[in-house]
Amino acid sequence: MKSFISLFLLFVLFSNVAAMVCPRGFSVVNNQKCLRVFSNKLKHLEAEIDCSYLGGTLVTVKTAIDNRGVANLASMSGATQVWIGMFCYPTGNTTTCYHDDNSGPLTYTSFAAGNPLYEGNGGCVYMSTSGKTSGQWFSAPCEVIGMPFVCEVPPTVYDATCTRNYNGYCYMPSHEMDIDTANTDYAKAQATCQDNGANLVSIHSKPEIDYIRAIYQSSSITRVYLGAQAFLPDTFDWQDGTQYDYDYTDPLATTKGDCLMMDLSKKDNNGMWSEISCTNIEYFLCKKKLVEPTAAPVVTTAGTMNTSPAAGDVEQKEVEKVNPKFHRVRSALPHRQELLDFSNCNTTIYMAPGVITSFGYPNTKPPATYCTWNVATLGPYRVGIYFTDFSVYNAVNVYDEYGNLITTAAYNKNPFQVLGTSNIVKITHDSRYDAIYSYTGFSATILPY
Ligand SMILES: *[C@@H]1O[C@H](CO)[C@@H](O)[C@H](O)[C@H]1NC(C)=O
Ligand SMILES: *[C@@H]1O[C@H](CO)[C@@H](O)[C@H](O)[C@H]1NC(C)=O
Repeated sequence: MKSFISLFLLFVLFSNVAAMVCPRGFSVVNNQKCLRVFSNKLKHLEAEIDCSYLGGTLVTVKTAIDNRGVANLASMSGATQVWIGMFCYPTGNTTTCYHDDNSGPLTYTSFAAGNPLYEGNGGCVYMSTSGKTSGQWFSAPCEVIGMPFVCEVPPTVYDATCTRNYNGYCYMPSHEMDIDTANTDYAKAQATCQDNGANLVSIHSKPEIDYIRAIYQSSSITRVYLGAQAFLPDTFDWQDGTQYDYDYTDPLATTKGDCLMMDLSKKDNNGMWSEISCTNIEYFLCKKKLVEPTAAPVVTTAGTMNTSPAAGDVEQKEVEKVNPKFHRVRSALPHRQELLDFSNCNTTIYMAPGVITSFGYPNTKPPATYCTWNVATLGPYRVGIYFTDFSVYNAVNVYDEYGNLITTAAYNKNPFQVLGTSNIVKITHDSRYDAIYSYTGFSATILPY
């Protein structure tokens, strides 16, 4: 019996070490990153879109060890330079570079002398992986040069029965499940998920949005139920008990209801959420937490074995009861610069998500001034501008990062969207006649798409 137990402990120890698992096609690098080299030559945004459909971004490099690991992996695939996951924004007379994964400005850098540059469109970064410059980073124009790239996705948990395995969860779209009806009302959809050890899906990041968009990319399904219910009007909780820590609600949605659906129609900025009635008949997506092998067999003193907890038990432990009063409200808060003006007029660089408004908004007599808004999202995404209130005399102009006019709009307008062509747009407005002619200004929600 004794030797049986120690054999067993050995197994547990071993599985502890071997716990790092990457999705199929990805290599484990430095026992902490899941990476894959793509040797086809793509422009930066095309490369980012390919990575996003795998639920990832271009690789983020945060230590010298990671840097060496990426350079080695890429050069073994024959690539001499690869796009990596960062973008350098012009901030005054210098540049600030951000990682793709929303972890903020760089703390480790490996730029070659004279880099990063920012020359109009030189905000993207590649790594040389051969010769003397191997491991060094260079600025490059995003939309001119095509090159191989390295995608990074989160590690996951092995499960032989799960075909859509991402970030420690199994995703089960209703139309791929062995059930009688793939579309039903909210309560029956959630019950079906629970019968399968899952819950209706909760969503916690933009990469997770992109992973789900990819699941439905080649299906004819245009919307699915998410696992959220309103506990106050327009204020939602995830039914699986996880925190409502990420929001991708369509700023222009007008429908009302106590449930949420995700738009999966064939438009570039799909994936956004809107309210619907819980009695609607919709397709749905279940999400099941995969159980780490390390949480598996434990031998108790009595010699009886406890097997791993069922997925349902794990989910329940994550439930945190939050007083609704303190619960995060869904709308994105503006990045406030100073107490009296929330417009973000003339900010050097304004990072989405958030809200910009005309100067003085919502004062119904807008002060006369000229404003520029330099709006950006992280490297993998493009800027989506959703004007939720619009009333101006002189036009609001929206330019791409090269200064080409994308849209110009004036007077009173119903809510509308403007989709940027890259991760930087510039918006201008001269409000000198707004108050004189009784126009009241604008408010726009900025979201990455
Ligand atoms: C950049 O701007 C800062 C302050 O805004 C200034 O101190 C610095 O000298 C400037 N550097 C260059 C190279 O112009
Ligand atoms: C924004 O910048 C422009 C041009 O530099 C300036 O004329 C304007 O007064 C500024 N607006 C505000 C509200 O600071």
